[in-house]
Amino acid sequence: MKIPLADLRAQYKSIKKEIDRAVHGVMDSQYFILGEEVQKLERSIADFCTVKYGVGLNSGTDALILGLKALGIKEGDEVITTPFSFIATAEAVVLVGAKPVFVDIDPATYNIDHGLIEEKITGRTKAILPVHLYGLCADMDPIIRIAKKHNLKILEDCAQAIGSTYNGKKAGSFGDAGAISFFPSKNLGAFGDGGMLVTNDEAVAKLTRLLHNHGSERRYYHDAIGYNSRLDNLQAAVLNVKLKYLDRWLAGRIKNAEFFNKALSKYPVQVPVTPKGLKHTFHLYILRTPKAAALSEHLMKNGIDSRAYYPIPLHLQKCFSYLGYKKGDLPESEKASVEVLNIPVYPEMTQEMKKYIIKQIDRFFRKAG
Ligand SMILES: Cc1ncc(COP(=O)(O)O)c(C=O)c1O
Repeated sequence: MKIPLADLRAQYKSIKKEIDRAVHGVMDSQYFILGEEVQKLERSIADFCTVKYGVGLNSGTDALILGLKALGIKEGDEVITTPFSFIATAEAVVLVGAKPVFVDIDPATYNIDHGLIEEKITGRTKAILPVHLYGLCADMDPIIRIAKKHNLKILEDCAQAIGSTYNGKKAGSFGDAGAISFFPSKNLGAFGDGGMLVTNDEAVAKLTRLLHNHGSERRYYHDAIGYNSRLDNLQAAVLNVKLKYLDRWLAGRIKNAEFFNKALSKYPVQVPVTPKGLKHTFHLYILRTPKAAALSEHLMKNGIDSRAYYPIPLHLQKCFSYLGYKKGDLPESEKASVEVLNIPVYPEMTQEMKKYIIKQIDRFFRKAG
């Protein structure tokens, strides 16, 4: 049996008629940039995230970059973030001229350890950039308390966590702004790159809107140096259809995760933790075991796609060597990076597929002892 990490074809097949109609609608209109579909999506995503504003952008990476800019982060500033994330999180900080300052993770949730943030705050610290990794919100209450105490902005990296909640509140609604990714394999994925900045702050929304279209509100009048970072009308049309199904898809992921949590309880693996009051939406289902590499090899050999997210923590990436971190500086992230393994959890998986994954994990541990 072959089981990929995501099966986008299966998802498309399930809503093909609606998607095709929406895409053809845009093609018939020949209106591709900043159209009605984008406006509709901005309203719907803002409502979904329970915030006032949404600004459609080219990607989640751009949502981080423009979000940081709109929050006033600039050359010489420091931004506190996690080293256990996709490169875009820290890349965005550097691309606005600031310095990422990495704080180690909580080994149970893989999110930034709020207890270690304050010791990294300096006179130059201007923001905290927590990542809601794998679909689980970072521990936002203490992060908000620290930000308020030290007058810091918060930009949430919600790329993996649309629809996740923390004490009943949606990801993206805690900080000054939230960055969403519509990368095709995300829980809400476009047919190409896409992203959005969500915020309750009118000034942040306005500035992001200005920046995303060459610093222009009126054609050929440019008030700021900006970007070309608009979400395509075509992508928005796809996303407007998919958004209707998102809650159902998230429920499917949660159901699959619950199946795995139960079935894996008798094996020597750490299954994902969902702290009380949080809703994990399982963009990724992560197992933890010191035997992750060998288990991955076994699963791959037997047709099950599995991967380490992320095999090299950001502070040890070559591109950040200028920051001066060395091995051992952020031990929890370093340990997690060699022990985590993602197994498929997408909502279209059949019972047979889930059982096959468990069967293969069982075979591995029988052999490995
Ligand atoms: C945690 C995280 N941040 C940022 C991004 C960047 O999003 P995008 O690929 O849409 O630029 C991603 C996804 O790829 C991500 O997983």
